[in-house]
Amino acid sequence: MTAARDLLTFVSSAVRSPGVIGAVAPSGRALCDLLASVAPVNGTATVVELGPGTGVVSQALRRRLPPEARHVAVEIDPGMVAHLTRTRPWLEVVRGDAKDLQKLLADIGITQVDAVVSGLPWTLFSREAQRGIMEQVSRVLVPGGVFTTFAYRHVMHLPTQRRFRELLEESFDEVRVTPTVWRNVPPALCYQCRNLGV
Ligand SMILES: C[S@@+](CC[C@H](N)C(=O)[O-])C[C@H]1O[C@@H](n2cnc3c(N)ncnc32)[C@H](O)[C@@H]1O
Repeated sequence: MTAARDLLTFVSSAVRSPGVIGAVAPSGRALCDLLASVAPVNGTATVVELGPGTGVVSQALRRRLPPEARHVAVEIDPGMVAHLTRTRPWLEVVRGDAKDLQKLLADIGITQVDAVVSGLPWTLFSREAQRGIMEQVSRVLVPGGVFTTFAYRHVMHLPTQRRFRELLEESFDEVRVTPTVWRNVPPALCYQCRNLGV
């Protein structure tokens, strides 16, 4: 039932605001699990999701995170925010733009996070927008923290995606590219990025 509601909400938001959603369907289970795999499995970690959409990655994070962890999701689309609040009452949802990440987190008492898990449509963003959000991510991540995001395979050659990859290389000490998740529509891979914190 939740899966059907997720799909309906996603498709209607994607039709209404294709330039914000940037996908035709929520990520599949294998991709969600791969994104969530960077999150700590114990301790009192704080994890932030950017662009949770209908909450499929949130669900994967919930399966992995210990109960003591704090799990915040920053979403810009009001329809998605309403859906998340209704269907994922355990999730701390913040309505806002990832470009204001530091302030949005400060407003709820968070200055640093252990992991940032992004579902943002980076290829739709201008160079300035990509840089602005990545700067915010770098500001809130603890030394040694991790940032992860996905990219669709069929857009890897586009200039905006190549530019984004360069930005990751500039922003982090280590950028790991995972194998492609073929069981996703469309197939996608993840970047897993860290600053070594030395
Ligand atoms: C491609 S969807 C990904 C949804 C989900 N994480 C998944 O993997 O199925 C992108 C999501 O990012 C949100 N989004 C786009 N720009 C944003 C921004 N500047 N700040 C916060 N959320 C944003 C969209 O509203 C949408 O929910």
